[in-house]
Amino acid sequence: MLAHNTFGLDVSCHKFVEYSSLEELDEALAQLRRDSEESYLHIGEGSNLLFTENYRGTILHSALKGKEVIDEDDEKVLLKVGAGENWDELVAWCVEHGYYGLENLSYIPGEVGAAAVQNIGAYGAEFADHAVAVETMAVADGAVKVFEKDECDYAYRHSIFKTTQRGRFVVTHVILSLSKKFVPDLTYGAISRELEARGMKPSDVDAQALRDLIIDVRKSKLPEPCEIGSAGSFFMNPVVCKEFAADLLLKYPQMPHYVMDGGIKVPAGWLIEQCGWKGKSLGNAGVYSKQALVLVNLGGATGEDIVRLSQAVQQDVLKKFGIQISPEVNFI
Ligand code: EPU
Repeated sequence: MLAHNTFGLDVSCHKFVEYSSLEELDEALAQLRRDSEESYLHIGEGSNLLFTENYRGTILHSALKGKEVIDEDDEKVLLKVGAGENWDELVAWCVEHGYYGLENLSYIPGEVGAAAVQNIGAYGAEFADHAVAVETMAVADGAVKVFEKDECDYAYRHSIFKTTQRGRFVVTHVILSLSKKFVPDLTYGAISRELEARGMKPSDVDAQALRDLIIDVRKSKLPEPCEIGSAGSFFMNPVVCKEFAADLLLKYPQMPHYVMDGGIKVPAGWLIEQCGWKGKSLGNAGVYSKQALVLVNLGGATGEDIVRLSQAVQQDVLKKFGIQISPEVNFI
């Protein structure tokens, strides 16, 4: 069984190659070019993947480690981090060392390389807010290529590495800029409500307290992958045009919504809950009872079970609201 999938599905692959240096990665890519028939897939911890069947090709996994300060002044620090580092261990290390900015991204499962591909985000923050550059190796010839942040086309759960350049580059390191001054972002509703519930004032919050609070909020809503198989949010939150949102709001005035650059973002979790799916199941796949955006493996689910449930949920949301919700999870 392939351990690297947080849905806990019983799947396997033809070959699994883990590399811990650029030389080893170069050699692994050269081998793939020699076996031109062999398909390949690069994964992190598999926290955003859904295997619909066994993988017949080679799976690559990064064990490129390292958290290195490459530049600093009185206000900022520039870090170079290996793609194979665990994301949350990086956040914990930054808080310990007084490098601030990543606190709201605490406890997100997965590795640093995948964070750069997915542009992970939570509680009003995202990876791109602190990215300076992404170092990669080209699959076609092993050449090292550095993408400046502006070249990565970062947007909500979006980058060139999952769209136009998908499968062409392997992320080896990321360069992050963090602040030496702690400026908390407490604006997200769930965070400000939790602060109030704890009787804490913004001035009481240091970086460790904010990290602890974020971890508690996440634990209260999202399943622990080691206990219940899931891939976090299964769908992305759809963005609809203003006019469409205005019509919906006439019908559902209580609908949560957020104004964005490109339109109005509607939480898919709310849409799914309104369709009656929260806590419901189809075979061994279920909609998580504490957060409807999360699909879970109730035990012994296959990739097909999860796909069937996701399609049923999508159809109902489309029927009731006229909105097509798309998976955030990558189907393999
Ligand atoms: N909501 C419901 N019912 C639900 C779930 C949510 O009505 O079952 C409503 C909430 O009441 C709230 C709104 O939807 O008004 C937003 O909910 P929440 O704050 O839980 O966030 P989300 O939009 O459902 C997104 C991210 C999460 C991230 C949280 C917090 C996506 C796809 N998901 O979820 O990211 O942790 O915001 O910032 O954008 C992930 O990507 O795997 C992930 C967990």
